[in-house]
Amino acid sequence: MPKHVAIIMDGNGRWAAKRGLSRSDGHKQGTEAAKAIVTHCRELGIGHLTLYTFSKENWGRPKDEVRFLFDLLRMFLNSELKSLLEQSIRLKVLGDISSLPAPARMTLEHVQKKTENGDAMVLNLALNYSGRDEILRAARRLIEQGVRPEDVTEETFSSQLYTCGQPDPDLVIRTSGEQRLSNYLLFQAAYSELYFTTVYWPDFTPEEFDKALADFTGRQRRFGLTGSQASG
Ligand code: IPE
Ligand code: IPE
Ligand code: MG
Repeated sequence: MPKHVAIIMDGNGRWAAKRGLSRSDGHKQGTEAAKAIVTHCRELGIGHLTLYTFSKENWGRPKDEVRFLFDLLRMFLNSELKSLLEQSIRLKVLGDISSLPAPARMTLEHVQKKTENGDAMVLNLALNYSGRDEILRAARRLIEQGVRPEDVTEETFSSQLYTCGQPDPDLVIRTSGEQRLSNYLLFQAAYSELYFTTVYWPDFTPEEFDKALADFTGRQRRFGLTGSQASG
């Protein structure tokens, strides 16, 4: 079982277009898919789940869509807080939330605080997230702390990332048929297994998740070794 699964939830817009619905409808349905996957991962005992919720690049979308996405996030958090507490899930944000619309930011702060003792699973929401920015930020923080060059190690560097203290993702899943990382977890995904499916995010059910898991289980992770070394 992977310790950490990271998902790029893509294809809400195309899911909606295929049905003659609005992009907003697609995002709404995407939220329902996310709820089911969160609960499923927790039941499977996956300790860390990261969902790519809003990239730094997504600010370039039409204003109305951006506004809708943050309204949806706020409503999702408000309606799910009780369930997160019941499931002992801890919510964490990866990214800089200072520039988010105030209602969404305040709700995020509230839910993070309320769920901070959740010990069954960490649910990371990558929000206003950019992998390159995260790396630059870590470098700046190390410099500010006066860390000596020889002390800049993978460990000290990782400790300045948003995912500090969490294992690297074992598996990165992307829905909708696109096969790229889109600036997601660039440092952490160095040795992640990648799984791509053409299913659009709103149709990504727990059964689809299990397919990804089965695929992952069948793989041999080598980390640079030969096949026989890695299996020995
Ligand atoms: C993913 O779906 C949700 C976000 C990026 C917020 P998209 O909105 O990217 O859907 P497509 O790619 O246009 O189908
Ligand atoms: C990546 O999806 C970001 C999220 C899922 C939040 P995009 O749809 O924004 O990625 P690109 O633009 O196709 O690379
Ligand atoms: Mg997309």
